[in-house]
Amino acid sequence: MCGIVGYVGVKPAMPILLDSLEKLEYRGYDSAGVALISDSGIMIRKTRGRIADLRKIVASVPADDCTVGIGHTRWATHGEPSDVNSHPHLSKSGRVAVVHNGIIENYIELREYLRARGYSFSTETDSEVVSELIDYWYNGDPVAAVRKAEQQLKGSYALGILFAEFPEQIIALRKDSPLIVGIGEGENFIASDIPAILKHTREVFRLGERELAILTRRRVTVFDHLGNQVRHETEHIAWDATAAEKGGYSHFMIKEIFEQPDAIAKTIAPRIDDELNIRLGFKSITDEDIRNINSIKITACGSAYHVGVVAKHFLKKTLNIPVEAELASEFRYDDPIIDEHTLVIIVSQSGETLDTLYALREAKKRGARVVSIVNVVASSIANESEEVLYTWAGPEIAVATTKAYSTQLALIELLCLYMAGIRGSMTKAEIDGEIRAMQAIPAGVQSLLDNVKSVQYIASLYFNCQDVFFIGRNIDYALSLEASLKLKEISYIHSEAYAAGELKHGSISLIEDGTLVIALCTYRPLLEKMVSNIKEVKARGAKVIAVINHDDTQTEAVADHVIRIPECKDIAVASLTIVPLQLLAYYIASLKGCDIDKPRNLAKSVTVE
Ligand code: M6R
Repeated sequence: MCGIVGYVGVKPAMPILLDSLEKLEYRGYDSAGVALISDSGIMIRKTRGRIADLRKIVASVPADDCTVGIGHTRWATHGEPSDVNSHPHLSKSGRVAVVHNGIIENYIELREYLRARGYSFSTETDSEVVSELIDYWYNGDPVAAVRKAEQQLKGSYALGILFAEFPEQIIALRKDSPLIVGIGEGENFIASDIPAILKHTREVFRLGERELAILTRRRVTVFDHLGNQVRHETEHIAWDATAAEKGGYSHFMIKEIFEQPDAIAKTIAPRIDDELNIRLGFKSITDEDIRNINSIKITACGSAYHVGVVAKHFLKKTLNIPVEAELASEFRYDDPIIDEHTLVIIVSQSGETLDTLYALREAKKRGARVVSIVNVVASSIANESEEVLYTWAGPEIAVATTKAYSTQLALIELLCLYMAGIRGSMTKAEIDGEIRAMQAIPAGVQSLLDNVKSVQYIASLYFNCQDVFFIGRNIDYALSLEASLKLKEISYIHSEAYAAGELKHGSISLIEDGTLVIALCTYRPLLEKMVSNIKEVKARGAKVIAVINHDDTQTEAVADHVIRIPECKDIAVASLTIVPLQLLAYYIASLKGCDIDKPRNLAKSVTVE
């Protein structure tokens, strides 16, 4: 997804902007650019490619006197990745430069509107219309021009704007796309995300929906869409600057995999008191409301959706009510049957995924009770949710999620036990037992991480394979979905997840000599059936890696390789099973030499539909 940065201060802006853009590389991008206020007006430098390419271009540019600027990493949506389509966009008059994250849905209509008024366009982007539209309305008052233009924009946008005639300020505006403001000493910043500016300041706030900020080096003034001045308390970011860096690991992904024991402990421990009572701190959803809930819908995208598919099984079993998991991109258009007795659980690491945000709005519109599980504090989904449960996983930089997935899973399990206690579907003693099992998850994950050698060995045998089939039943199938996504997104190996019982209804025709099948066999009630499925694929030539419980000898006897999960109670199995599969994906991608943290075509935060 596109990344925005902006600096206004007394230091040379160029190195700060380039450094900040590098911190946003994890979002995925295909081109980059900067705009600086110089003595002769707004100076733009931009290029297709990496920040390293941009660095080469700006190396000989005399810019030490430029102390105000904006920068952008572009993830192409409208128009191919190219120099001309890169941001910033400078209006033809040279008066206005804009960086944009989001999508202007009515840009074609706006182009016609502006063409009829003598404007022309040189890019294929939706964003260029913003700089020209602001230019069109500009009459000496930057704020008025931005607000006038905004009235005509449909879609989502975070914007950083420079006016040549106001060389000491940046204007920022956002709707449905994230933007933060960083407050420094005699300098201020804008950025799409915190790591971009952490080196310079730890005092930040998130710009609210349709808020406009005017940043000079001395002050930041914010107005809501009605023009009223708004005061924001800053949030102090306590992360060590290195928490947003790799800390000695080869990739963020492997660092984040190894952070899972700590992340899970941080997410669950503060919510369990000494008497093993669960404290979620709900403000508006009462015990009575929880007793009145008669169905649950979990909606999310990608891995967060996969958390929902796992959670569906234990929520249904524990609470004995209908539970569905639905992709957020489908939910909104599927006329969901929900009312005030439905609990909608929204799951999102970034809290900015647009499909998920829109699903949240749909759920609220239809009167559902909403609890969101989010990692990024004060993100859009968190801000708009009735109740928020934060996963305290810390910043997740790798595009492929690992620790966010694990903490989401643990938190949703805790929510399930909390509801079971209030609804009386489990006794206190039963819940206590489950909580103790959950408290043991970090140690279980750690023991898997202490023994990565066997996973590395298996990766070395199969990293050249073309296709992989993950199979499982019940929760193991739900986990297969995530394991398969993890492998394909970072290694580019074609992989699919199948409910094992479905194999013989079609997909078994794909199995031939040497095809790799990864069988998840931890769900004890259906173990016999999984063993039969393994035999079926082996009879057709498949090589089978089985993920099994610590005491399972039956599957071991039929599989080519096994990965054992340490002894644990059922509630912990999913949290442990996914770990070796994340590692397998990582080591395979690493052996293939893939760009693990920034897989091709992917973005960390998907803020377009
Ligand atoms: O930020 P979110 O949790 O809302 O993101 C949802 C998906 O885009 C995300 O989980 C994606 O599938 C991951 N990159 C997969 O590793």
